[in-house]
Amino acid sequence: MSLRIFIPGDAGAVAVGADEVAAAFATVARERGVVLDIIRNGSRGLYWLEPMVEVETPAGRIAYGPTAPGDAPSLLDAVLGSGQHRLRQGRAEDIPWLKRQTRLTFARCGIADPRSLADYQRQGGGKGLERALLLGPPATIETVVQSGLRGRGGAGFPTGIKWRTVAQTSAPRKYVVCNADEGDSGTFADRMIMEGDPFVLIEGMAIAAFAVGATKGYIYIRSEYPHAVAAMNAACAAARRGGLLGRGIGGSSHDFDIEVRVGAGAYVCGEETSLLESLEGRRGVVRAKPPLPAHHGLFGKPTVINNVLSFASVPIILEQGAAFYWGFGAGKSRGTMPIQLAGNVKYGGLFETAFGITLGELVDDIGGGTFTGRSVRAVQVGGPLGAYFPRALFDTPFDYESFAARDGLIGHGGLVLFDDTVNMARQARFAMEFCAIESCGKCTPCRIGARRGVETIDRIIGDDNRAAHLDVLQDLCHTMKYGSLCALGGFTPYPVMSALTHFPEDFGAAPKRLQAAE
Ligand SMILES: Cc1cc2nc3c(=O)[nH]c(=O)nc-3n(C[C@H](O)[C@H](O)[C@H](O)COP(=O)(O)O)c2cc1C
Ligand code: SF4
Repeated sequence: MSLRIFIPGDAGAVAVGADEVAAAFATVARERGVVLDIIRNGSRGLYWLEPMVEVETPAGRIAYGPTAPGDAPSLLDAVLGSGQHRLRQGRAEDIPWLKRQTRLTFARCGIADPRSLADYQRQGGGKGLERALLLGPPATIETVVQSGLRGRGGAGFPTGIKWRTVAQTSAPRKYVVCNADEGDSGTFADRMIMEGDPFVLIEGMAIAAFAVGATKGYIYIRSEYPHAVAAMNAACAAARRGGLLGRGIGGSSHDFDIEVRVGAGAYVCGEETSLLESLEGRRGVVRAKPPLPAHHGLFGKPTVINNVLSFASVPIILEQGAAFYWGFGAGKSRGTMPIQLAGNVKYGGLFETAFGITLGELVDDIGGGTFTGRSVRAVQVGGPLGAYFPRALFDTPFDYESFAARDGLIGHGGLVLFDDTVNMARQARFAMEFCAIESCGKCTPCRIGARRGVETIDRIIGDDNRAAHLDVLQDLCHTMKYGSLCALGGFTPYPVMSALTHFPEDFGAAPKRLQAAE
Protein backbone atom coordinates (compact mmCIF):
# COMPACT_ATOMS: atom_id res chain seq x y z
CA MET A 1 0.00 0.00 0.00
CA SER A 2 1.32 3.40 -0.91
CA LEU A 3 1.06 6.44 1.32
CA ARG A 4 -1.34 9.03 -0.12
CA ILE A 5 -0.53 12.68 0.46
CA PHE A 6 -2.24 15.76 -0.88
CA ILE A 7 -0.28 18.88 -1.89
CA PRO A 8 -2.34 21.61 -3.56
CA GLY A 9 -1.68 22.43 -7.20
CA ASP A 10 -3.76 25.59 -6.67
CA ALA A 11 -2.04 28.72 -8.00
CA GLY A 12 -2.21 30.38 -4.57
CA ALA A 13 -0.37 27.45 -2.98
CA VAL A 14 2.04 27.18 -5.90
CA ALA A 15 2.88 30.87 -5.43
CA VAL A 16 4.18 30.09 -1.95
CA GLY A 17 6.14 26.98 -2.93
CA ALA A 18 3.73 24.02 -3.27
CA ASP A 19 5.52 22.70 -6.39
CA GLU A 20 8.88 22.74 -4.57
CA VAL A 21 7.33 20.99 -1.55
CA ALA A 22 5.84 18.30 -3.83
CA ALA A 23 9.22 17.82 -5.54
CA ALA A 24 10.99 17.57 -2.17
CA PHE A 25 8.54 14.90 -0.96
CA ALA A 26 9.05 12.91 -4.16
CA THR A 27 12.85 13.06 -3.78
CA VAL A 28 12.90 12.10 -0.08
CA ALA A 29 10.46 9.25 -0.67
CA ARG A 30 12.56 7.91 -3.56
CA GLU A 31 15.75 8.08 -1.48
CA ARG A 32 14.09 6.15 1.33
CA GLY A 33 12.26 3.67 -0.88
CA VAL A 34 8.86 4.83 0.35
CA VAL A 35 6.03 4.47 -2.17
CA LEU A 36 4.30 7.82 -2.13
CA ASP A 37 1.17 8.76 -4.07
CA ILE A 38 1.19 12.58 -4.33
CA ILE A 39 -2.17 14.05 -5.34
CA ARG A 40 -2.20 17.68 -6.41
CA ASN A 41 -5.55 18.69 -4.96
CA GLY A 42 -7.23 22.09 -4.86
CA SER A 43 -6.69 24.38 -1.92
CA ARG A 44 -8.97 24.18 1.12
CA GLY A 45 -8.73 27.98 1.11
CA LEU A 46 -6.78 28.46 4.34
CA TYR A 47 -4.09 30.44 2.59
CA TRP A 48 -1.97 31.31 5.63
CA LEU A 49 -1.34 27.56 6.01
CA GLU A 50 -0.29 27.00 2.39
CA PRO A 51 1.44 24.95 1.22
CA MET A 52 -0.77 22.75 3.40
CA VAL A 53 0.12 19.07 3.08
CA GLU A 54 -2.50 16.49 4.01
CA VAL A 55 -1.74 12.86 4.75
CA GLU A 56 -4.37 10.15 4.44
CA THR A 57 -4.63 8.08 7.63
CA PRO A 58 -7.26 5.73 9.08
CA ALA A 59 -8.35 8.67 11.29
CA GLY A 60 -8.88 10.96 8.28
CA ARG A 61 -6.68 13.44 6.47
CA ILE A 62 -4.12 15.04 8.80
CA ALA A 63 -2.97 18.52 7.80
CA TYR A 64 0.50 20.05 8.17
CA GLY A 65 1.31 23.63 7.26
CA PRO A 66 2.63 26.01 6.22
CA THR A 67 5.33 23.71 4.84
CA ALA A 68 8.61 24.37 3.06
CA PRO A 69 10.70 21.98 0.92
CA GLY A 70 13.14 21.57 3.83
CA ASP A 71 10.33 20.14 5.99
CA ALA A 72 9.86 17.10 3.72
CA PRO A 73 12.32 14.75 5.52
CA SER A 74 11.00 15.46 9.02
CA LEU A 75 7.39 15.37 7.82
CA LEU A 76 7.94 11.99 6.19
CA ASP A 77 9.50 10.75 9.46
CA ALA A 78 6.44 12.03 11.29
CA VAL A 79 3.84 10.49 9.04
CA LEU A 80 5.63 7.15 9.02
CA GLY A 81 6.00 7.33 12.81
CA SER A 82 3.94 8.99 15.53
CA GLY A 83 2.40 11.63 13.28
CA GLN A 84 3.60 14.38 15.60
CA HIS A 85 5.25 17.43 14.04
CA ARG A 86 5.47 21.13 14.87
CA LEU A 87 3.45 21.93 11.72
CA ARG A 88 0.65 19.49 12.53
CA GLN A 89 -2.80 21.11 12.40
CA GLY A 90 -4.81 17.95 13.16
CA ARG A 91 -7.59 16.55 11.02
CA ALA A 92 -8.22 19.02 8.20
CA GLU A 93 -12.01 18.98 8.78
CA ASP A 94 -11.48 19.81 12.45
CA ILE A 95 -9.48 23.00 11.85
CA PRO A 96 -11.87 25.56 13.42
CA TRP A 97 -11.67 27.96 10.45
CA LEU A 98 -12.88 25.19 8.15
CA LYS A 99 -15.29 23.66 10.64
CA ARG A 100 -17.23 26.92 11.02
CA GLN A 101 -18.04 26.98 7.31
CA THR A 102 -21.01 25.64 5.39
CA ARG A 103 -19.49 24.32 2.23
CA LEU A 104 -22.09 23.65 -0.44
CA THR A 105 -20.48 25.11 -3.58
CA PHE A 106 -17.00 24.24 -2.28
CA ALA A 107 -18.02 20.85 -0.87
CA ARG A 108 -15.34 18.96 -2.80
CA CYS A 109 -12.71 21.67 -3.32
CA GLY A 110 -9.46 20.52 -1.72
CA ILE A 111 -10.87 17.04 -1.18
CA ALA A 112 -11.34 15.48 -4.63
CA ASP A 113 -8.60 14.97 -7.18
CA PRO A 114 -9.35 17.74 -9.71
CA ARG A 115 -7.87 15.70 -12.54
CA SER A 116 -10.09 12.67 -12.05
CA LEU A 117 -13.72 12.47 -13.15
CA ALA A 118 -13.92 9.07 -11.45
CA ASP A 119 -12.89 10.64 -8.13
CA TYR A 120 -15.44 13.45 -8.65
CA GLN A 121 -18.15 10.83 -9.09
CA ARG A 122 -16.87 8.79 -6.11
CA GLN A 123 -17.26 11.93 -4.00
CA GLY A 124 -20.90 12.33 -5.06
CA GLY A 125 -20.40 14.49 -8.16
CA GLY A 126 -22.72 14.03 -11.12
CA LYS A 127 -25.94 13.51 -9.15
CA GLY A 128 -27.25 16.99 -9.98
CA LEU A 129 -27.19 16.33 -13.72
CA GLU A 130 -28.72 12.88 -13.20
CA ARG A 131 -31.60 14.46 -11.33
CA ALA A 132 -32.04 17.23 -13.92
CA LEU A 133 -32.25 14.64 -16.69
CA LEU A 134 -34.97 12.84 -14.74
CA LEU A 135 -36.90 16.04 -13.99
CA GLY A 136 -36.75 17.47 -17.52
CA PRO A 137 -36.01 21.09 -18.51
CA PRO A 138 -39.07 22.95 -17.06
CA ALA A 139 -38.82 21.32 -13.61
CA THR A 140 -35.05 21.82 -13.58
CA ILE A 141 -35.50 25.54 -14.19
CA GLU A 142 -38.27 25.70 -11.57
CA THR A 143 -35.93 24.06 -9.02
CA VAL A 144 -33.27 26.71 -9.65
CA VAL A 145 -35.91 29.48 -9.40
CA GLN A 146 -37.29 28.08 -6.13
CA SER A 147 -33.82 27.68 -4.61
CA GLY A 148 -33.46 31.47 -4.58
CA LEU A 149 -30.02 31.30 -6.24
CA ARG A 150 -28.89 34.73 -7.43
CA GLY A 151 -25.97 35.48 -9.72
CA ARG A 152 -22.69 35.41 -7.81
CA GLY A 153 -20.86 37.57 -10.37
CA GLY A 154 -22.01 40.82 -8.81
CA ALA A 155 -25.44 41.92 -9.93
CA GLY A 156 -27.34 39.26 -7.97
CA PHE A 157 -29.95 38.61 -10.65
CA PRO A 158 -32.05 35.43 -10.03
CA THR A 159 -30.36 32.63 -11.98
CA GLY A 160 -33.50 30.58 -12.64
CA ILE A 161 -35.37 33.56 -14.10
CA LYS A 162 -32.50 34.16 -16.53
CA TRP A 163 -32.59 30.49 -17.58
CA ARG A 164 -36.37 30.58 -18.01
CA THR A 165 -36.06 33.58 -20.35
CA VAL A 166 -33.57 31.73 -22.56
CA ALA A 167 -35.63 28.53 -22.46
CA GLN A 168 -38.69 30.45 -23.67
CA THR A 169 -36.91 31.70 -26.80
CA SER A 170 -36.97 29.65 -29.95
CA ALA A 171 -33.72 29.70 -31.88
CA PRO A 172 -31.79 27.14 -33.94
CA ARG A 173 -28.82 27.57 -31.60
CA LYS A 174 -28.42 28.76 -28.02
CA TYR A 175 -25.32 29.21 -25.92
CA VAL A 176 -24.21 28.85 -22.32
CA VAL A 177 -21.34 31.15 -21.37
CA CYS A 178 -19.43 31.02 -18.13
CA ASN A 179 -17.98 34.31 -16.91
CA ALA A 180 -14.61 33.42 -15.37
CA ASP A 181 -13.03 36.82 -15.89
CA GLU A 182 -12.89 37.33 -12.09
CA GLY A 183 -11.42 40.83 -12.14
CA ASP A 184 -12.57 42.06 -8.72
CA SER A 185 -9.84 42.97 -6.27
CA GLY A 186 -9.47 40.44 -3.47
CA THR A 187 -11.39 37.68 -5.23
CA PHE A 188 -10.19 34.21 -6.14
CA ALA A 189 -13.17 31.87 -5.60
CA ASP A 190 -13.75 31.25 -9.33
CA ARG A 191 -10.11 30.36 -9.75
CA MET A 192 -10.22 28.00 -6.77
CA ILE A 193 -13.23 26.14 -8.18
CA MET A 194 -11.71 25.84 -11.65
CA GLU A 195 -8.43 24.54 -10.23
CA GLY A 196 -9.84 22.53 -7.34
CA ASP A 197 -13.19 21.14 -8.54
CA PRO A 198 -13.53 21.82 -12.28
CA PHE A 199 -16.12 19.10 -12.86
CA VAL A 200 -18.68 20.86 -10.67
CA LEU A 201 -18.55 23.83 -13.05
CA ILE A 202 -18.87 21.56 -16.08
CA GLU A 203 -21.81 19.79 -14.44
CA GLY A 204 -23.51 23.11 -13.63
CA MET A 205 -23.09 24.32 -17.22
CA ALA A 206 -24.35 20.98 -18.57
CA ILE A 207 -27.49 21.31 -16.41
CA ALA A 208 -28.02 24.85 -17.72
CA ALA A 209 -27.55 23.71 -21.31
CA PHE A 210 -30.03 20.87 -20.88
CA ALA A 211 -32.53 23.19 -19.19
CA VAL A 212 -32.50 25.91 -21.85
CA GLY A 213 -31.76 23.78 -24.93
CA ALA A 214 -28.20 24.95 -25.62
CA THR A 215 -25.68 22.72 -27.33
CA LYS A 216 -22.51 24.78 -27.06
CA GLY A 217 -20.80 26.43 -24.11
CA TYR A 218 -17.80 28.67 -23.57
CA ILE A 219 -15.78 29.39 -20.45
CA TYR A 220 -14.15 32.81 -20.69
CA ILE A 221 -11.16 32.78 -18.33
CA ARG A 222 -8.92 35.74 -17.61
CA SER A 223 -5.43 35.44 -19.06
CA GLU A 224 -3.85 35.84 -15.60
CA TYR A 225 -5.20 32.38 -14.67
CA PRO A 226 -3.01 29.93 -16.63
CA HIS A 227 -3.44 27.17 -14.01
CA ALA A 228 -7.22 27.47 -14.24
CA VAL A 229 -7.08 27.41 -18.05
CA ALA A 230 -5.02 24.21 -17.97
CA ALA A 231 -7.25 22.62 -15.32
CA MET A 232 -10.45 23.42 -17.23
CA ASN A 233 -9.06 22.19 -20.55
CA ALA A 234 -7.97 18.92 -18.93
CA ALA A 235 -11.31 18.55 -17.14
CA CYS A 236 -13.30 19.19 -20.34
CA ALA A 237 -11.27 16.50 -22.11
CA ALA A 238 -11.88 14.06 -19.23
CA ALA A 239 -15.59 14.98 -19.20
CA ARG A 240 -15.80 14.26 -22.92
CA ARG A 241 -14.17 10.85 -22.39
CA GLY A 242 -16.51 10.15 -19.45
CA GLY A 243 -19.75 11.13 -21.20
CA LEU A 244 -20.40 14.30 -19.18
CA LEU A 245 -19.79 16.36 -22.33
CA GLY A 246 -20.21 15.60 -26.02
CA ARG A 247 -22.96 13.60 -27.66
CA GLY A 248 -25.77 12.50 -25.34
CA ILE A 249 -24.58 13.99 -22.04
CA GLY A 250 -25.09 11.75 -19.02
CA GLY A 251 -26.75 9.12 -21.23
CA SER A 252 -29.47 11.52 -22.42
CA SER A 253 -30.29 12.55 -25.97
CA HIS A 254 -28.94 16.08 -25.38
CA ASP A 255 -25.60 17.09 -26.92
CA PHE A 256 -23.43 19.68 -25.24
CA ASP A 257 -19.77 20.62 -25.45
CA ILE A 258 -17.61 23.34 -23.92
CA GLU A 259 -14.69 25.38 -25.25
CA VAL A 260 -12.30 27.28 -23.02
CA ARG A 261 -11.38 30.78 -24.20
CA VAL A 262 -8.73 33.03 -22.67
CA GLY A 263 -9.56 36.71 -22.12
CA ALA A 264 -7.45 39.49 -23.50
CA GLY A 265 -6.99 41.17 -20.13
CA ALA A 266 -9.39 44.03 -19.38
CA TYR A 267 -11.54 44.50 -16.30
CA VAL A 268 -14.48 45.57 -18.43
CA CYS A 269 -14.39 42.23 -20.28
CA GLY A 270 -16.05 40.82 -17.13
CA GLU A 271 -19.13 42.88 -17.94
CA GLU A 272 -21.33 40.39 -19.73
CA THR A 273 -21.95 42.19 -23.02
CA SER A 274 -18.36 43.29 -23.30
CA LEU A 275 -17.34 39.67 -22.65
CA LEU A 276 -19.58 38.54 -25.51
CA GLU A 277 -17.95 41.10 -27.83
CA SER A 278 -14.55 39.77 -26.79
CA LEU A 279 -15.67 36.15 -27.33
CA GLU A 280 -16.78 37.11 -30.82
CA GLY A 281 -13.27 38.40 -31.50
CA ARG A 282 -13.80 42.11 -31.07
CA ARG A 283 -12.55 44.71 -28.62
CA GLY A 284 -14.31 44.46 -25.27
CA VAL A 285 -16.82 47.31 -25.54
CA VAL A 286 -20.09 47.28 -23.62
CA ARG A 287 -23.30 46.77 -25.62
CA ALA A 288 -26.40 48.80 -24.88
CA LYS A 289 -29.21 46.78 -23.23
CA PRO A 290 -31.83 45.87 -24.34
CA PRO A 291 -31.61 43.52 -26.10
CA LEU A 292 -30.60 41.30 -23.18
CA PRO A 293 -28.07 38.50 -23.81
CA ALA A 294 -30.91 36.10 -22.95
CA HIS A 295 -32.58 37.17 -26.21
CA HIS A 296 -29.67 38.37 -28.31
CA GLY A 297 -26.39 37.17 -26.87
CA LEU A 298 -23.37 35.40 -28.32
CA PHE A 299 -23.40 35.61 -32.13
CA GLY A 300 -26.86 37.15 -31.79
CA LYS A 301 -28.32 33.96 -30.28
CA PRO A 302 -30.12 33.48 -26.92
CA THR A 303 -27.43 33.05 -24.31
CA VAL A 304 -27.25 32.12 -20.64
CA ILE A 305 -24.32 33.94 -19.12
CA ASN A 306 -23.49 33.21 -15.51
CA ASN A 307 -20.60 33.47 -13.13
CA VAL A 308 -18.51 30.38 -12.21
CA LEU A 309 -19.98 30.26 -8.69
CA SER A 310 -23.55 30.51 -9.97
CA PHE A 311 -23.04 27.46 -12.21
CA ALA A 312 -21.05 25.62 -9.54
CA SER A 313 -23.90 26.06 -7.03
CA VAL A 314 -26.46 24.42 -9.32
CA PRO A 315 -25.46 20.71 -8.99
CA ILE A 316 -26.08 20.63 -5.24
CA ILE A 317 -29.39 22.47 -5.71
CA LEU A 318 -30.56 19.81 -8.15
CA GLU A 319 -29.17 17.00 -6.04
CA GLN A 320 -30.60 18.16 -2.69
CA GLY A 321 -33.63 20.11 -3.89
CA ALA A 322 -34.65 23.77 -3.89
CA ALA A 323 -35.87 23.76 -0.27
CA PHE A 324 -32.51 22.50 0.99
CA TYR A 325 -30.64 25.42 -0.60
CA TRP A 326 -33.33 27.96 0.29
CA GLY A 327 -32.97 26.81 3.91
CA PHE A 328 -29.66 28.64 4.17
CA GLY A 329 -29.41 32.42 4.18
CA ALA A 330 -31.65 35.31 5.06
CA GLY A 331 -34.33 37.48 3.40
CA LYS A 332 -33.92 37.46 -0.37
CA SER A 333 -30.32 36.24 -0.13
CA ARG A 334 -30.62 32.47 -0.06
CA GLY A 335 -28.03 29.75 0.15
CA THR A 336 -24.36 30.23 0.89
CA MET A 337 -21.77 32.70 -0.36
CA PRO A 338 -18.10 31.84 -0.83
CA ILE A 339 -16.60 34.94 0.80
CA GLN A 340 -12.99 35.81 0.07
CA LEU A 341 -10.88 37.55 2.73
CA ALA A 342 -7.93 39.46 1.33
CA GLY A 343 -5.78 42.57 1.63
CA ASN A 344 -4.19 43.33 4.99
CA VAL A 345 -5.78 40.36 6.79
CA LYS A 346 -4.37 37.89 9.29
CA TYR A 347 -6.30 34.81 8.15
CA GLY A 348 -6.92 35.29 4.44
CA GLY A 349 -8.78 32.76 2.37
CA LEU A 350 -12.07 31.30 1.26
CA PHE A 351 -14.89 31.21 3.80
CA GLU A 352 -18.18 29.80 2.52
CA THR A 353 -21.11 30.50 4.79
CA ALA A 354 -24.83 31.20 4.73
CA PHE A 355 -25.82 34.81 4.06
CA GLY A 356 -26.50 36.79 7.22
CA ILE A 357 -23.15 36.69 9.03
CA THR A 358 -22.12 40.26 9.94
CA LEU A 359 -19.23 42.13 8.37
CA GLY A 360 -17.67 42.49 11.83
CA GLU A 361 -17.71 38.72 12.41
CA LEU A 362 -16.02 38.21 9.07
CA VAL A 363 -13.36 40.84 9.68
CA ASP A 364 -12.59 40.28 13.36
CA ASP A 365 -13.51 36.67 14.18
CA ILE A 366 -12.87 34.94 10.87
CA GLY A 367 -10.22 37.21 9.39
CA GLY A 368 -8.54 37.83 12.76
CA GLY A 369 -8.08 41.53 11.96
CA THR A 370 -5.10 42.83 10.03
CA PHE A 371 -1.89 41.02 9.15
CA THR A 372 0.08 44.02 10.41
CA GLY A 373 -1.66 43.80 13.79
CA ARG A 374 -2.86 47.39 13.59
CA SER A 375 -6.52 48.31 13.88
CA VAL A 376 -8.83 47.81 10.90
CA ARG A 377 -9.84 51.20 9.52
CA ALA A 378 -11.77 50.28 6.39
CA VAL A 379 -12.98 47.27 4.45
CA GLN A 380 -13.78 47.45 0.78
CA VAL A 381 -16.50 44.95 -0.03
CA GLY A 382 -17.42 43.84 -3.55
CA GLY A 383 -14.34 44.64 -5.61
CA PRO A 384 -13.02 47.93 -7.00
CA LEU A 385 -16.56 49.27 -7.44
CA GLY A 386 -17.57 48.40 -3.87
CA ALA A 387 -17.96 50.82 -0.97
CA TYR A 388 -15.48 51.27 1.88
CA PHE A 389 -17.11 50.38 5.17
CA PRO A 390 -15.82 51.83 8.46
CA ARG A 391 -16.02 49.97 11.78
CA ALA A 392 -19.27 51.83 12.56
CA LEU A 393 -20.97 49.74 9.85
CA PHE A 394 -19.52 46.38 10.87
CA ASP A 395 -22.94 45.30 12.15
CA THR A 396 -24.13 45.06 8.51
CA PRO A 397 -25.31 41.52 7.72
CA PHE A 398 -23.60 40.05 4.68
CA ASP A 399 -26.45 39.92 2.19
CA TYR A 400 -27.46 41.76 -0.98
CA GLU A 401 -30.18 43.97 0.54
CA SER A 402 -28.40 44.97 3.77
CA PHE A 403 -25.33 46.17 1.87
CA ALA A 404 -27.44 48.01 -0.72
CA ALA A 405 -29.34 49.73 2.11
CA ARG A 406 -26.02 51.14 3.31
CA ASP A 407 -24.88 52.28 -0.13
CA GLY A 408 -22.66 49.25 -0.63
CA LEU A 409 -22.69 45.99 -2.54
CA ILE A 410 -21.45 42.48 -1.90
CA GLY A 411 -20.44 41.96 -5.53
CA HIS A 412 -18.52 38.72 -5.98
CA GLY A 413 -17.93 38.38 -2.23
CA GLY A 414 -14.45 39.89 -1.93
CA LEU A 415 -13.37 41.69 1.25
CA VAL A 416 -10.20 43.78 1.22
CA LEU A 417 -9.02 44.98 4.64
CA PHE A 418 -7.02 48.15 5.32
CA ASP A 419 -5.35 49.15 8.57
CA ASP A 420 -5.19 52.61 10.13
CA THR A 421 -2.30 53.73 7.91
CA VAL A 422 -4.57 53.91 4.85
CA ASN A 423 -5.29 57.29 3.32
CA MET A 424 -8.87 57.23 2.08
CA ALA A 425 -8.54 60.26 -0.20
CA ARG A 426 -5.80 58.30 -2.01
CA GLN A 427 -8.14 55.29 -2.22
CA ALA A 428 -10.88 57.48 -3.70
CA ARG A 429 -8.40 58.81 -6.24
CA PHE A 430 -7.40 55.23 -7.04
CA ALA A 431 -11.06 54.32 -7.73
CA MET A 432 -11.39 57.15 -10.25
CA GLU A 433 -8.02 56.35 -11.80
CA PHE A 434 -8.96 52.67 -12.11
CA CYS A 435 -12.20 53.64 -13.85
CA ALA A 436 -10.35 56.01 -16.20
CA ILE A 437 -7.86 53.30 -17.17
CA GLU A 438 -10.38 50.46 -17.49
CA SER A 439 -13.22 52.44 -19.12
CA CYS A 440 -14.29 50.96 -22.46
CA GLY A 441 -14.89 54.52 -23.63
CA LYS A 442 -18.41 54.03 -24.93
CA CYS A 443 -20.18 56.58 -22.72
CA THR A 444 -19.18 60.10 -21.68
CA PRO A 445 -19.93 60.08 -17.91
CA CYS A 446 -17.41 57.26 -17.44
CA ARG A 447 -14.85 58.03 -20.16
CA ILE A 448 -14.54 61.74 -19.36
CA GLY A 449 -15.99 61.78 -15.84
CA ALA A 450 -13.39 59.45 -14.37
CA ARG A 451 -10.53 61.59 -15.74
CA ARG A 452 -12.11 64.76 -14.33
CA GLY A 453 -12.62 62.83 -11.09
CA VAL A 454 -8.89 62.14 -10.74
CA GLU A 455 -8.10 65.81 -11.38
CA THR A 456 -10.73 67.00 -8.92
CA ILE A 457 -9.50 64.70 -6.15
CA ASP A 458 -5.94 65.88 -6.83
CA ARG A 459 -7.13 69.45 -6.25
CA ILE A 460 -8.88 68.44 -3.03
CA ILE A 461 -5.77 66.64 -1.79
CA GLY A 462 -3.65 69.66 -2.81
CA ASP A 463 -6.02 72.05 -0.96
CA ASP A 464 -6.80 73.97 -4.15
CA ASN A 465 -10.17 75.59 -3.50
CA ARG A 466 -11.10 72.49 -1.53
CA ALA A 467 -14.69 73.29 -0.57
CA ALA A 468 -15.70 74.04 -4.16
CA HIS A 469 -13.97 70.93 -5.48
CA LEU A 470 -15.65 68.74 -2.88
CA ASP A 471 -18.96 69.97 -4.28
CA VAL A 472 -17.78 69.28 -7.85
CA LEU A 473 -16.74 65.76 -6.87
CA GLN A 474 -20.14 64.97 -5.39
CA ASP A 475 -21.87 66.40 -8.43
CA LEU A 476 -19.63 64.39 -10.74
CA CYS A 477 -20.34 61.18 -8.80
CA HIS A 478 -24.06 61.84 -9.16
CA THR A 479 -23.68 62.21 -12.94
CA MET A 480 -21.56 59.06 -13.26
CA LYS A 481 -23.94 57.03 -11.09
CA TYR A 482 -27.07 57.90 -13.03
CA GLY A 483 -25.64 58.63 -16.51
CA SER A 484 -23.24 55.72 -17.18
CA LEU A 485 -24.16 52.90 -19.50
CA CYS A 486 -22.79 50.11 -17.31
CA ALA A 487 -21.75 49.52 -13.71
CA LEU A 488 -18.07 50.38 -14.26
CA GLY A 489 -18.86 54.08 -14.55
CA GLY A 490 -22.09 53.74 -12.60
CA PHE A 491 -20.57 52.17 -9.50
CA THR A 492 -17.22 53.97 -9.30
CA PRO A 493 -19.00 56.61 -7.18
CA TYR A 494 -19.52 53.94 -4.48
CA PRO A 495 -15.88 53.71 -3.34
CA VAL A 496 -15.42 57.46 -3.89
CA MET A 497 -18.52 58.61 -2.03
CA SER A 498 -18.12 56.07 0.78
CA ALA A 499 -14.55 57.26 1.34
CA LEU A 500 -15.77 60.85 1.39
CA THR A 501 -18.77 60.14 3.61
CA HIS A 502 -17.11 57.91 6.19
CA PHE A 503 -13.58 59.34 6.20
CA PRO A 504 -14.00 63.08 5.44
CA GLU A 505 -10.99 63.96 7.57
CA ASP A 506 -8.71 62.38 4.94
CA PHE A 507 -10.03 64.88 2.40
CA GLY A 508 -9.37 67.76 4.76
CA ALA A 509 -13.10 68.25 5.24
CA ALA A 510 -15.09 68.50 8.45
CA PRO A 511 -17.52 65.58 8.81
CA LYS A 512 -20.53 67.83 9.45
CA ARG A 513 -20.15 69.85 6.26
CA LEU A 514 -20.21 66.74 4.11
CA GLN A 515 -23.25 65.29 5.81
CA ALA A 516 -25.07 68.58 5.14
CA ALA A 517 -24.09 68.33 1.46
CA GLU A 518 -25.66 64.85 1.07
C1 LIG B 1 -17.14 46.30 -15.09
C2 LIG B 1 -17.78 45.00 -14.76
C3 LIG B 1 -16.99 43.87 -14.54
C4 LIG B 1 -17.59 42.65 -14.24
N1 LIG B 1 -16.79 41.58 -14.01
C5 LIG B 1 -17.36 40.37 -13.79
C6 LIG B 1 -16.54 39.22 -13.61
O1 LIG B 1 -15.31 39.30 -13.63
N2 LIG B 1 -17.15 38.04 -13.39
C7 LIG B 1 -18.53 37.92 -13.36
O2 LIG B 1 -19.04 36.82 -13.20
N3 LIG B 1 -19.32 38.99 -13.52
C8 LIG B 1 -18.77 40.20 -13.75
N4 LIG B 1 -19.58 41.29 -13.95
C9 LIG B 1 -21.05 41.07 -13.93
C10 LIG B 1 -21.53 40.58 -15.30
O3 LIG B 1 -21.82 41.71 -16.11
C11 LIG B 1 -22.82 39.75 -15.18
O4 LIG B 1 -23.72 40.38 -14.33
C12 LIG B 1 -22.56 38.33 -14.68
O5 LIG B 1 -21.60 37.68 -15.46
C13 LIG B 1 -23.86 37.53 -14.75
O6 LIG B 1 -23.67 36.29 -14.11
P1 LIG B 1 -24.38 35.97 -12.72
O7 LIG B 1 -25.83 36.33 -12.88
O8 LIG B 1 -24.19 34.52 -12.53
O9 LIG B 1 -23.72 36.80 -11.70
C14 LIG B 1 -19.00 42.55 -14.20
C15 LIG B 1 -19.81 43.68 -14.42
C16 LIG B 1 -19.19 44.90 -14.69
C17 LIG B 1 -20.06 46.08 -14.92
S1 SF4 C 1 -19.67 53.06 -18.00
FE1 SF4 C 1 -17.56 53.03 -18.78
S2 SF4 C 1 -17.15 50.89 -19.18
FE2 SF4 C 1 -19.38 51.09 -19.01
S3 SF4 C 1 -20.11 51.50 -21.10
FE3 SF4 C 1 -19.71 53.51 -20.22
S4 SF4 C 1 -17.58 53.93 -20.85
FE4 SF4 C 1 -17.88 51.75 -21.11
